[in-house]
Amino acid sequence: GKYRVVSTKSMPGTRWIRLLTDNDCRLEICTEAKTILSVDDILALIGDRCDGVIGQLTEDWGEVLFSALKRAGGTAFSNMAVGYNNVDVEAANRNGIAVGNTPGVLTETTAELAASLSLAAARRIVEADQFMRAGLYDGWLPHLFVGNLLKGQTVGVIGAGRIGSAYARMMIEGFKMNLIYYDLYQATRLEKFVTGKQQCAHLLLIALCIPPAYGQFLKANGEQPVTWKRAATMEDVLREADVISLHPVLDKTTYHLINPERLAIMKKEAVLVNASRGPVIDEVALVEHLKANPMFRVGLDVFEDEPYMKPGLADMKNAVVVPHIASASKVYI
Ligand code: GLV
Ligand code: GLV
Repeated sequence: GKYRVVSTKSMPGTRWIRLLTDNDCRLEICTEAKTILSVDDILALIGDRCDGVIGQLTEDWGEVLFSALKRAGGTAFSNMAVGYNNVDVEAANRNGIAVGNTPGVLTETTAELAASLSLAAARRIVEADQFMRAGLYDGWLPHLFVGNLLKGQTVGVIGAGRIGSAYARMMIEGFKMNLIYYDLYQATRLEKFVTGKQQCAHLLLIALCIPPAYGQFLKANGEQPVTWKRAATMEDVLREADVISLHPVLDKTTYHLINPERLAIMKKEAVLVNASRGPVIDEVALVEHLKANPMFRVGLDVFEDEPYMKPGLADMKNAVVVPHIASASKVYI
């Protein structure tokens, strides 16, 4: 191979390896056992001759690494993530390094994980699982682990890009939830999708309303069309939605987007889901809110100081926590 390419981690599957070797690259996969590589570790990997690096979201790709890559003759850096808050794109530009990320391929897997967390939190799955395993189940009771019914409730999406829109579609189609979303941009395709659903439901009602008994049947089975709206402010979403999922990019404008003031306006029994980036939520404030509101539930895939959780979070029964696994599905390997 003509080009020396370094991957800071071993990655699932073999297609990416073949793609590189078929294109005149000599691939070196780092075998370092520690989970998170430091800047110094990566400098050593780059060495004095390196054409490109495939890196991970846990690494700090700034001036130090990009200038080292440039000195080593490199021209490309690829982040195995859609989020690139760990990458200083301006520093890459200054050093003439092209940057890649992975939008598109992980849209559905991330949306599915957000949907999983929504259900797990709403129906108290993890809490109930722990109760079972602890041997505490001594017979069915009417009020055992009563959770939230999603059907007919409102799903709130903050950041309706690829992932947020896919999540909204799943919750609307799967659970007949109404939608309220907030985004700087209009989510035209999502709006068309929901409008299409409304029209289908209307046509079904018109077609089947004769004889009227069918109409009653459909109503009884909840076949009313879902409603949707684009909120003027994020606060409108937080106030109105029963399940809220966060899908913004992390930057200066979205750091601690969910702060004490915004937690306070949410419904006391709301479900909050985050499969975007940890610092979007003020996690210390969230722990306080979970303590004060036992019926408020969260599903978290990401944390402010990964791999750590803020003190107290691990003790909260009303929190479902998983270790940043939204993109971790086999489909794309
Ligand atoms: C994972 O967090 C990603 O951004 O792809
Ligand atoms: C519950 O198990 C029911 O049969 O309603």
